[in-house]
Amino acid sequence: MTLNSTFLSLFALISLLSSLSATSSFPSYSSLAGLSERELDEVVAWLPQVLPPSPPPPLKFNGTKLVNDRDHPWKPIRKGDIRGPCPGLNTLASHGYLPRDGVATPSQIIEAVQEGFNMASATARFATYAAHLVDGNLVTDLLSIGGKTRRTGVDPPPPAIVGGLNTHSVFEGDSSMTRGDDFFGDNHSFNQTLFDQFVEYSNKYGGGFYNLATATELRHRRIQESIATNPQFDFTSPRFFTAFAESTFPYTFFVDGRISDRATAGLDMTNATLFFRDSKYPLDFWRPPAPTGGTGALQIFSAYPVAAGRNVDGVNTFTPDPTSADFSNICLLYTNFVNKTVKGLYPNPTGVLRRNLIINLGYFYNAFPGGVGECPEQFPYGTL
Ligand code: HEM
Ligand SMILES: *[C@@H]1O[C@H](CO)[C@@H](O)[C@H](O)[C@H]1NC(C)=O
Ligand SMILES: *[C@@H]1O[C@H](CO)[C@@H](O)[C@H](O)[C@H]1NC(C)=O
Ligand SMILES: *[C@@H]1O[C@H](CO)[C@@H](O)[C@H](O)[C@H]1NC(C)=O
Ligand SMILES: *[C@@H]1O[C@H](CO)[C@@H](O)[C@H](O)[C@H]1NC(C)=O
Ligand SMILES: *[C@@H]1O[C@H](CO)[C@@H](O)[C@H](O)[C@H]1NC(C)=O
Repeated sequence: MTLNSTFLSLFALISLLSSLSATSSFPSYSSLAGLSERELDEVVAWLPQVLPPSPPPPLKFNGTKLVNDRDHPWKPIRKGDIRGPCPGLNTLASHGYLPRDGVATPSQIIEAVQEGFNMASATARFATYAAHLVDGNLVTDLLSIGGKTRRTGVDPPPPAIVGGLNTHSVFEGDSSMTRGDDFFGDNHSFNQTLFDQFVEYSNKYGGGFYNLATATELRHRRIQESIATNPQFDFTSPRFFTAFAESTFPYTFFVDGRISDRATAGLDMTNATLFFRDSKYPLDFWRPPAPTGGTGALQIFSAYPVAAGRNVDGVNTFTPDPTSADFSNICLLYTNFVNKTVKGLYPNPTGVLRRNLIINLGYFYNAFPGGVGECPEQFPYGTL
């Protein structure tokens, strides 16, 4: 444990203790988005104010190795532990690569996805800062990998206490493979019916394995299902991109690193069940042989091209949204995310909140795969 994280947990402990007695408690990992200026003043005043550290570097040793090791045993979740919509992060928390309670700093997440799954540095930073900007607590530098289940004693509930990766439509989105759409209620728990379809498609198109061919058909199927059944289906950026990217993750990250040609070989259903349902590495699991962000998203998209859009007036009214980013305009993914999504959540931040927004937006921009220069950096809150 570094000095920094000791410091952080100390503060987290203090704020947890004080939250037990305070009437207007506020978990130190809840997002501050949507709070009024008065509420912000009140809450920010007693939150630990953390200067966001630079992201951790790429791995020194970046080859394959056993990651389900003695130092990282799987343990069942305890009362109060948080898990969410991402089987990758859930698994890392249940093996102790992330804090087992499911609340982490962006740096801890970046370190964990690199160490535990050999996710490439830029991908790890891109996904983590995107998630943190919209779902994390930008003052305390903490993000929950799920919802807000540890919220206690808030009476009456402040209007917009949200946060964590379950938060709908900023990062979490519709048309997931094994999680239901937000419209149907539970948007983050493992859904056995959907997983049965995952198995059915793996049998039909991948010979019993989830591979690139399975991913292509299942992604198309899930989009068609959402169009036909979810009147509020939203498939605009950023969900448009994360959906295709996440379709590549099971054969990229959940297949043993000693296997070659992994996108074709694919993930078997016993191991898939462990990751998706139980947040558990298979016995003797080795991480991928090289840092990767997952490949094949564009191939999956190209097999059944679909516009970024949404159901505008009930089911089966899917309409393209020309203002959304898509594969023909990736730069807009960055610009809209910063100028619309983040700015919409935090229209007028001041003080430490503004400072930390600026710092995290900088880390996010540096991770952007389009590269500096191709897409000019935006400064919705000025500079420090
Ligand atoms: C780097 C930080 C990461 C963040 C912030 C993150 C966040 C998320 C979120 C919010 C979702 C839900 C999206 C949705 O379906 O609505 C998701 C889904 C997913 N994530 Fe992650 N993730 C990260 C890394 C990883 C890693 C390393 C893996 C694999 C080892 C992974 C595998 C997946 C998969 C397979 C899904 C799709 C689940 C489904 O469609 O049922 N993620 N992630
Ligand atoms: C992996 O590590 C080697 C040796 O340090 C380095 O040369 C290589 O660039 C790294 N690969 C990636 C993708 O970072
Ligand atoms: C899905 O996410 C939204 C956040 O927008 C939340 O209000 C809702 O409670 C979530 N659904 C469930 C069943 O947790
Ligand atoms: C799981 O998903 C199916 C298909 O979308 C849905 O009908 C069912 O209600 C969901 N189950 C739960 C427990 O949310
Ligand atoms: C499941 O994962 C283990 C550990 O990575 C691996 O050795 C095994 O081959 C996988 N099972 C199948 C059927 O691919
Ligand atoms: C982003 O918003 C700023 C104002 O906050 C504006 O000056 C800038 O032109 C916008 N950028 C784009 C590319 O629309």
